[in-house]
Amino acid sequence: MRELALNILDIAENSLAAGAKLVTLSLWADFASDTMRIRIDDDGCGMDEETLQKVTDPFTTSRKTRSVGMGLPLFKYSAESTGGCFSISSEKGKGTSVCAEYRIGHIDRMPLGDLGGVVLQMIAMNPQTDFLVTVECDGKKGVLDTREIKEILGEIPLDMPEVRAFLKDYIRENLVSIYGGRL
Ligand SMILES: Nc1ncnc2c1ncn2[C@@H]1O[C@H](COP(=O)(O)OP(=O)(O)OP(=O)(O)O)[C@@H](O)[C@H]1O
Ligand SMILES: [Mg+2]
Repeated sequence: MRELALNILDIAENSLAAGAKLVTLSLWADFASDTMRIRIDDDGCGMDEETLQKVTDPFTTSRKTRSVGMGLPLFKYSAESTGGCFSISSEKGKGTSVCAEYRIGHIDRMPLGDLGGVVLQMIAMNPQTDFLVTVECDGKKGVLDTREIKEILGEIPLDMPEVRAFLKDYIRENLVSIYGGRL
């Protein structure tokens, strides 16, 4: 994986697999303090204490097809290898929060990559799930809330091609104006 956006997609897929109704993605970056924080919260099934202790160890997974779950360990590594930090908290039946903090200018920090594409894919592929996406960089902020979009669209489905095309441009334009190519 060479893009943090793909790590984010993997973490969001965990939330979807956990049956989340709302997935909240927040990206916050501040160049003055050389800090970027990526946080994913969900209201899915959560994990018990024992699983939670094991999930950042690559030899733990609930998948039967493969013995190694890599989503969380890779996300953790992506942050820690920049001198940043990682945390995860979870409560059975309540949900899970994952947070990774990066030193933006560190040589080992992977580029953010196509965050817009990942957000669009998550939204269009999971019309039953709501997403609240907040992106903030040096005080410039944008928010996308599918609950609001659905209210505006009424009967029109989120995964309709025209809606998807509109969202694609909307997300891209917003991300360009918030952080341009700087992350
Ligand atoms: N948001 C979440 N809610 C509930 N359980 C989770 C969540 N995220 C991770 N888990 C649990 O932690 C395990 C490890 O997750 P991780 O993403 O590291 O690997 P994986 O999803 O099993 O496999 P991979 O991501 O490599 O396809 C999952 O199998 C799941 O049991
Ligand atoms: Mg996973």
